[in-house]
Amino acid sequence: PALQNTPGTEVSSQNDGQTATREVTVLFGSETGNGQMLAEGLSEKLVAQGLKVATSAMDDFKPKGLKKVEDLLIVTATHGEGDPPDNALSFNEFLNSRKAPKLDGLRFSVLSLGDQSYEFFCQTGKDLDKRLEELGGERLYPRVDCDLDFDEPAAEWMEGVLESLRETQKTGSADEETPLTELLEAGAGIKQSAYSRTNPFKAEILDNWKLNGRGSNKETRHLELSLEGSNLEFEPGDSLGVFPENNPELVEQIIDVMNWNPEEIVPASKKGDSKTLRDALHYHFEITILTKPLLKQAALLFENEALIELLEPERDDELKAYLDGRDVLDLIQDYPPQEVSASEFVQILRKIPARLYSISSSFKANPDEVHLTIGTVRYEAHGRDRTGVFSGQCAERTEPGEMLPIYIHRNPNFKFPADQQAPVIMIGPGTGVAPFRSFLEEREELGAEGKTWLFFGEQHFASDFLYQVEWQNWLKEGVLSKLDVAFSRDTAEKVYVQHRMLEKSREFYQWLEKGASVYVCGDEQSMANDVHNTLTTIIEQEGAMTKEEAEVYLTEMRHQKRYQRDVY
Ligand code: 2AM
Repeated sequence: PALQNTPGTEVSSQNDGQTATREVTVLFGSETGNGQMLAEGLSEKLVAQGLKVATSAMDDFKPKGLKKVEDLLIVTATHGEGDPPDNALSFNEFLNSRKAPKLDGLRFSVLSLGDQSYEFFCQTGKDLDKRLEELGGERLYPRVDCDLDFDEPAAEWMEGVLESLRETQKTGSADEETPLTELLEAGAGIKQSAYSRTNPFKAEILDNWKLNGRGSNKETRHLELSLEGSNLEFEPGDSLGVFPENNPELVEQIIDVMNWNPEEIVPASKKGDSKTLRDALHYHFEITILTKPLLKQAALLFENEALIELLEPERDDELKAYLDGRDVLDLIQDYPPQEVSASEFVQILRKIPARLYSISSSFKANPDEVHLTIGTVRYEAHGRDRTGVFSGQCAERTEPGEMLPIYIHRNPNFKFPADQQAPVIMIGPGTGVAPFRSFLEEREELGAEGKTWLFFGEQHFASDFLYQVEWQNWLKEGVLSKLDVAFSRDTAEKVYVQHRMLEKSREFYQWLEKGASVYVCGDEQSMANDVHNTLTTIIEQEGAMTKEEAEVYLTEMRHQKRYQRDVY
């Protein structure tokens, strides 16, 4: 088949002398990298079974080849409000267009990754699953939708898929099973460490200070952690996963309202570990976000009439409004449970998910440390002051000497060019500047010579110019070739990074034409969209193209991995 694969991701194996096997195509859509890691793990399992496998991102697959695919396995994340991840956009578009071929004879199965706290939970996976059936495909194994804690359901799906393939394909002898987690962490070229998401390293906090000066509206923390003895490695663009702790005050309030005994022993995982209620709520369960499935379970458990009524289908808008910005304390205050034991209650909670932060230091320059740049989230909602779980912990309860459970999260979709001569444009307002500090620190260490251009934006020059001295030193040394800054609240009219880009549009386009790669990191909702539109405008204007042609130019850049985003 006419497959175009990301170099190095195609794997296949001979199944000597046996009946010819059908080729299995594994396609992934991945934003933060979990989808890709799972797809690659699956491929290895399939190869170990003696199957022929071709694996790639959905958008690296030539959709015309779809007609020839016999067995298709899709692993896909969903982005934001139900959109496909960046590297699955054109494939999804193709499948939903009139050009999509009839797929009689195709067998398929979908694994979707998502987050129950989003209304359009696992939407991309659901849509693909439905569409492949409409086009004539036959389901090899039912779709599985995973919440944030995806290990178990993903492993079950893989088992189910393998079983179905075994029944219908002549597979080789089943090899020793490799545990899923091991496959997930087998990063390309990265030395194996004993530590991973499922076995986090306890990193000592070396330093934690506020980057903003007096008079700032912001509280951006710079955190330095020790990696000594961990064997952990990372590259610019990778993230650090951090397991946060809940605010102990919130924990005590919940226990108080419910009149529970904080020392009571409760189950803390499906595997049967148990902890005191206080510790379980402090370290183990998510208590700051309400989801629809949680409320459904709570309604059954609480036997609270008002809550049961709120869940009636015609009140869905009201339910959504209720979920927004409220936590478990709100829930038990607004809809008091009839007698509910602490053990029953914690079993309806989700495991607290790790937070991912773009790493802001270079491993090559600083192998024993990892640095983070974290914006403190504070807001008032429903009559209470609230803080982000980990950013609040950082700002209020994190002292040097303490330990933090962490792991390295590879981000294959935010990788700087291997060619050190290739020009690089970086757009990172606010904490979005983090990966670019990592990148430049690494360039300095390696003595890289290619040209680099940074666009940074914040509110005030005097108080918010994060890492100002470092950029200026790198400018002097030539590690950074150009720096453009936009301070939005120093002038009557707001200026943002995209305004600076537009002011330099000719030079910007010249860089693009010379093969520059563009990296965007930071706020997704407003900034990344506006920057995208500005990129289109620059290309339209300076390249004398129509808007459609400019979009094609950017899509082409994305395929060449010259337009990458890490947005949140
Ligand atoms: P503001 O807070 O004055 O609106 C980092 O947070 C910087 O990004 C701030 O200067 C912020 O400006 C700015 N910002 C806010 N919205 C933006 C957008 N849509 N595009 C680019 N920058 C934006």
